[in-house]
Formats: sequence, C-alpha cells, structure tokens
Amino acid sequence: MSGIIEVPGAKNAVLPVLAATLLNNGTSILENCPELDDVLTMNEILSALGCKIKRKGSQIEVDASQLTSSSIPEVLAKRMRSSIIILGAVLARCGEVHVSYPGGCEIGMRPIDMHLRALEQMGAEVDGLNHGMLRVRAKKLQGCEILLDYPSVGATENIMLAACYAEGETLIRNAAKEPEIEDLQAFLNKAGAMISGAGSGVIKIHGVSEIKTQITHKIIPDRIVAGTYLAAAAATGGSLVVTGVDYDHIGSILYCLKRCGCKIKHYQGGVVTLEAEGRLKPLDLVRTSPYPGFPTDMQPQIVALLTRCSGTSVVVETVFENRFRYTEQLLKLGADISVQGRTAIIRGVDTLRGADLEARDLRGGAALIIAGLTAEGETRISGVNYIDRGYERVERVLSKVGAQIRRVED
Ligand code: UD1
Repeated sequence: MSGIIEVPGAKNAVLPVLAATLLNNGTSILENCPELDDVLTMNEILSALGCKIKRKGSQIEVDASQLTSSSIPEVLAKRMRSSIIILGAVLARCGEVHVSYPGGCEIGMRPIDMHLRALEQMGAEVDGLNHGMLRVRAKKLQGCEILLDYPSVGATENIMLAACYAEGETLIRNAAKEPEIEDLQAFLNKAGAMISGAGSGVIKIHGVSEIKTQITHKIIPDRIVAGTYLAAAAATGGSLVVTGVDYDHIGSILYCLKRCGCKIKHYQGGVVTLEAEGRLKPLDLVRTSPYPGFPTDMQPQIVALLTRCSGTSVVVETVFENRFRYTEQLLKLGADISVQGRTAIIRGVDTLRGADLEARDLRGGAALIIAGLTAEGETRISGVNYIDRGYERVERVLSKVGAQIRRVED
C-alpha cells in the first residue's frame, strides 16, 4: 500500500451530536459528517421524531423546531444499538420518550443500567413496558451529582444531553474522557448550553431554559478510521499518508505501531505518515482501556497486524466481555491465536492463506480486511454490511492506495 488517505469525520462524534441537535429549537448545520449506514439510521430516527433533515455531501442540516413525536420506532432503534444515546435528548426536550430496550450484540451484552440509573437520579420515571419497550418520563429533570461506576461513553453523553435542560447543575464524576465527548460539549456550548470539563473525568452542566439558534459545527476526524488504515499499511509493509487527523487523538494507536517497528512522523495540519519495512515486532502486552488508553475499537485491527509479527504478542480486552469472536475467522487464514477469557495470545506466523470469512461486527470486520490483504491468494469476506457501518466505501479507499480489493455484491 502506498498513497494518501483523507480521514472523514468521526462516526462516534456525529451520532451524539445528531442526537444533540434535538435540543436546538432551531437549525443545526453539521459539517464533515461521514456517509455511513449508522448516520443514515440516526437521520431516520430524527425524521421520525419530526425533524427536517437535509443532506448535501458531508453536510447535514437538522431543523428540530417542530418535533411531532417522542417515540423512537422500534425497527430503527434495533438497527443501531447506539440509538440509546438519543434517550436523554428526547426526554429533555419532550418530557418523555418511548424506545425499545437494546438487546445484546456480538461484542457483549452492552447493558444500559448506568444510563437509566442516572436519569432516575435526575428525577425521571423509568417503566419497562411489554415487548422490551421502555418509557421514560420527567416533567422537569433535576440537576444532581452522578458518579458513574465506569466511564461509559454513551452514559456520559446521555447525561450531558438530559442535563442541558435540567433545573440547576449536574455534575458527572468518573465521566468518559473520549475526544467525542469534547466534541459534543463544543457543539452544545456553541448552541448555548453551559457545559465545562469534557475531556476530564468531571463534567459540569448548568441547565438552561431553551436553546434556539442557528449554528454550524465541524465534526472531529475519525481516530479509529485513521488507526485502521495505518494498521493496514503497517501489516502490508506499506507507506501511507493520512490527512485530516488529530494527532493527539491517536497517540496510543501510534505508540503501538511504533513499538512494532513502524516509522511514524507527523506534520502540522493533521498529517501523519507511516512507513513499515520487513517483518514487524510483536507486542508483549496491549491492554484496551478508556481514553486516553488503547481503544477497544482498534483491538481487532491490531490483533490482525500481530498475526504476522516475528514472535508472540499478548492483547487483553478490558472494555467489552466478548470481543475476540472475530479471531475464529483469522484462524481460517492460518493465524495462531489462542483466546482465554479476555486475553488473546498471538504467535506470529510466516504466512496467512486466503479463505472465505464472515464479518460479524464492525471492527472485527475491519480486522478481517487487514488480515486478508496480508494473506497469500484470495480472501472473500461476507457480512460487509457490518463494515459499512463504520467505513465509507472501504474498498474504494483501499484500492486507491494499492490494495487489491473489490466489492463483489452490493
Ligand atoms: C461507545 C462507542 C463504541 C466504543 C465504546 C467504548 C459510540 C456510538 N460507540 O460505545 O464504538 O467501543 O464506546 O469505547 O460512541 N456498560 C454497562 N452499563 C451501561 C453502559 C455501559 O455495563 O449502562 C458497559 C458496557 O457493557 C461496556 C463498557 O461499559 O462493557 C463500556 O461501554 P460504553 O463506554 O458505554 O460504550 P458505548 O457508549 O456503548
């Protein structure tokens, strides 16, 4: 692989910001939005609630001045687990919300207990209805102090959104520190909310009575997409330039790639270059953890890279309980990986051989592409719809930088 890839806006930033547009009784214009299935689903949810949406390329305009419903259609909520981040915004704006209870998914149960406990603490009534539906009601939420058991990204976002219209001040302790949380704060404050502390473990939200404005906001770059393409270049012994990235956001990913022996440089204006030559070195230990630690969303891609390194690597997944299932697929290529609970031991092999594989989740699917690119012969990957949830036309991006990859069926 060799060439330049421009990194699009972050999926995990645009989804909560789209949810936040519901709080604006006016028009929000979002720039640098990626064209992804999950973004489309979120737009459909907003439309079902009464928002008027216009999309022009990477710009999305949301007019949320006339909401007509507080029920999130079950078919849309089930399509995207992260639809739960809309709960706080709809509740704050409408005083109630109906949504289906999200089920388990391929990477673990992903419960929403912290989201619901926090909303109850703010005075909301939570009813579990029949058929897995939830109804949450609160005439007026009350600001309070909330201590999260774990720095959950979604729970932090939900509380921030709910607290914007709460009476008084809400304090979130042990809040998630991810850059996407900072982007949500930036958008909301531009619109007229009063939030401080995003990026630290303590976030303070002072409730306001109304947000009604026209604002434009540019979504931050996708650190996981940047990391995935850099890992693909590293795995294939290539040289790649990624542009439009925030270097600070990808520190832990670049640290791992450097430890493997990649040469990495960064330049002003969000440009990062990577060069990889010969066989890469194994990593004695990579542990996923909340930001600024190594992101769980990059764990499968790094494991794919490590399958051909010159020795044994150990990767520990601490965020999700079931995030190594994709490794079964890598074994079909001849990788040597053993998984015990939350630990994967990867013994580097000389060659992988192409096979038919099945993607069952987004980042696991990205890992299969990376491994397939390094394998001898042809690899066919089904379940591409999972990969489309987080990567814009991945085959076009990769083939422009020299990868031999094409979409067989749409
Ligand atoms: C977000 C990201 C996802 C990323 C994850 C961790 C979005 C749209 N998705 O997901 O890509 O992998 O952060 O960086 O931004 N948990 C509970 N109870 C709760 C909430 C979470 O036990 O009420 C657990 C989860 O099961 C998981 C851990 O907390 O084990 C972290 O989850 P969380 O940070 O909430 O992830 P998401 O917001 O779902």
